[in-house]
Amino acid sequence: MKVLVIGTGYVGLNTGVVLAYLGHDVTCLDVNSEKIEMLKQGKPPIYEPNLDTLLTLAYDHLHFTTDYDEADIPNTDVVFIAVGTPSLPDGGANLEYVAQAARSVGARLDGHFTVIVNKSTVPIGSGNWVTTLIRDAYQKSQGHRPHGNYFIASNPEFLRQGSALYDTFYPDRIVLGAEDPRAIDILTNLYRPLLNQDFTAPESLPRPEGFTAVPLVTCDLASAEMIKYAANSFLALKISYINEIAHLAEKVGADITQIARGIGLDSRIGPRFLNAGIGWGGSCFGKDTAALISTACEYNLEMPIIEAARNVNYQLREEFVMKAQQELKILKGKTVTLLGLAFKPNTDDLRDAPAIDIAKMLLLRGAKVHAHDPVAIANMKRQYPELAIDYFEDANEAVQDSDAVLLVTEWPLYKKLDWKTILKDGKVKLLDGRNFF
Ligand code: UGA
Repeated sequence: MKVLVIGTGYVGLNTGVVLAYLGHDVTCLDVNSEKIEMLKQGKPPIYEPNLDTLLTLAYDHLHFTTDYDEADIPNTDVVFIAVGTPSLPDGGANLEYVAQAARSVGARLDGHFTVIVNKSTVPIGSGNWVTTLIRDAYQKSQGHRPHGNYFIASNPEFLRQGSALYDTFYPDRIVLGAEDPRAIDILTNLYRPLLNQDFTAPESLPRPEGFTAVPLVTCDLASAEMIKYAANSFLALKISYINEIAHLAEKVGADITQIARGIGLDSRIGPRFLNAGIGWGGSCFGKDTAALISTACEYNLEMPIIEAARNVNYQLREEFVMKAQQELKILKGKTVTLLGLAFKPNTDDLRDAPAIDIAKMLLLRGAKVHAHDPVAIANMKRQYPELAIDYFEDANEAVQDSDAVLLVTEWPLYKKLDWKTILKDGKVKLLDGRNFF
């Protein structure tokens, strides 16, 4: 099938590359010409494990452009809108980029039947709003109302950064929401190889043993949109729940790792997303919980459970710095090393990363901050030039002469440091923000 993916962020690029690997003819469009130039040269503009290999494997089925006219929209079967929806100051989602994409597509639609898919995480009800934008743009360009030659669908994304390709090839489920069965049919055909798991798995991402068919959930637009928010909010509150239990466990001298194992083995609870520590960050949980609360507010509804999950989460960062202060007594003039900056391992993404708040608080209290991260230092320097942090390419060097080492992101390489020597004389305090050691 002929596919256009608008937006080459984590969601758009991974989706485009996987669909191209499955044999579809995919154009990836982004308004950022630097990104498109890199992609044309076969280089991923973001760090994501295996993306470079997959890009090479799928390259013959991929095209990259910044130009909507070049994207051949009139002959495209499926258009994915996968642009960013950053938070507005009031917690709502900024839909400016979605609107731009929708208008650009609408103005170029023709007689061919096209399914336009909202892959960006958009507030509940956005499917209808996008339909209106497309219809108006179509009417403006063609001079008449469209005759049912396009449909809007919602196909929320559940991939995690750091394992985005694995999650796209081997998802727990695929959710398709649309008001018209034709849209669902086209998307079901598009995803057939994933649903049936009958494609040849890439060598770098073998199919997990016993992984056969993928469940398909089909529903109306609003339900599909809500599934995404409800899923992310649930995961966020699962983590905040275990962190709240961890607080009490620490007081009574119980071991949160054992508690998580003990409750996670109950199949109704499940073992995943019960790692206690300094909590969640990233581009999704903070943004989506805020957006859900903001949508509820439009209906005069409160979401006290989700609000509480957010409060618990963001307090964890302060508490971590307080713990360092307790250990060192005085932070002023002390050298504190942050191991890890990215919001989680296997990504260079710093959005809502706990490391940023922690570094700011430490600097404010007069500490000298050292930091290491295997891939996120360049982003940190670029995005936070005002933070007077000493960066180290080598983790061993970063911890030298430290009074405290704060494990912020659980990159596996930190397990390999010579901890015996580092902690030998008890002068260096180690605070494990991820229950990693
Ligand atoms: C999350 C969801 O997991 C994806 O299903 C969803 O598609 C994505 O958001 C999105 O909406 O785009 P992501 O933010 O990439 O994915 O990363 P996660 O692996 O979910 O981790 C989020 C944060 O939770 C990280 O800061 C991680 O360190 C933290 N976390 C995760 C914990 O503190 N404890 C856990 O047990 C698990």
